[in-house]
Amino acid sequence: MKYYSFESYEKMSAKAASMVAAQITLKENCVLGLPTGSTPIRTYEILADMYKNGALDFAQVQTVNLDEYCGIPKENEQSYRSFMNHNLFDNVNINIDNTNVPNGMASDIAAECIRYDELIDSLGGIDLQLLGIGNNGHIGFNEPSRQFSKDTNCIDLTEDTIQAYKRFFNDISEVPRKAITMGMRSILHARKIVLIANSLVKEKIIRAAIEGPITPLVPASILQLHPDVTILYSKK
Ligand code: GLP
Repeated sequence: MKYYSFESYEKMSAKAASMVAAQITLKENCVLGLPTGSTPIRTYEILADMYKNGALDFAQVQTVNLDEYCGIPKENEQSYRSFMNHNLFDNVNINIDNTNVPNGMASDIAAECIRYDELIDSLGGIDLQLLGIGNNGHIGFNEPSRQFSKDTNCIDLTEDTIQAYKRFFNDISEVPRKAITMGMRSILHARKIVLIANSLVKEKIIRAAIEGPITPLVPASILQLHPDVTILYSKK
């Protein structure tokens, strides 16, 4: 694992954007695995600026998002599909048909999970997976549990996560209780992984993920098994 710490969110985001941009330059039809959350917002803005300046071309890029809430229509501004459209896809020349987010409104969620894994496999897997990390060490929505979940699956959000995300909703009762998340198999099969985190709150969990035992109680600790992980962290 490579670990870099930065003095500011801005510098961390610039480094993350440069790594994604290098991947796109090296392979114009690359498959990017993408996260939501507040951490990648600036990275996405910098990538959009690179596109606007003519430095980056998303025309052939394909994307698979890590996760989506269940029961929130994609048009709802809290859906991860809306988040991605607003923060990245609407601001670059990506073909929206080449962007993929799990369908949290599928009538058959189990079938949707199988479809999503098959889709990732059919794209040839992920070239670069950008990850955030939850305060409890979750990646995607793979919450701490007794075992690592291998395939894309539907999970119950933990109380910690519900509390952390109530800020985006009018009332805690509106926070979804379930989400579809890519499992560890697709994440760990990515050829390259870049995990970004900022804020002091995440320092302890980052340390546990890097230095502690590999345990499903700290889902991000499984990244220790991957040969090409870069962690970009800024306290501020
Ligand atoms: C959500 C997403 C994760 C993301 C995490 C971190 O839980 N499902 O993929 O990594 O948020 O969020 P933030 O960057 O806002 O701390």
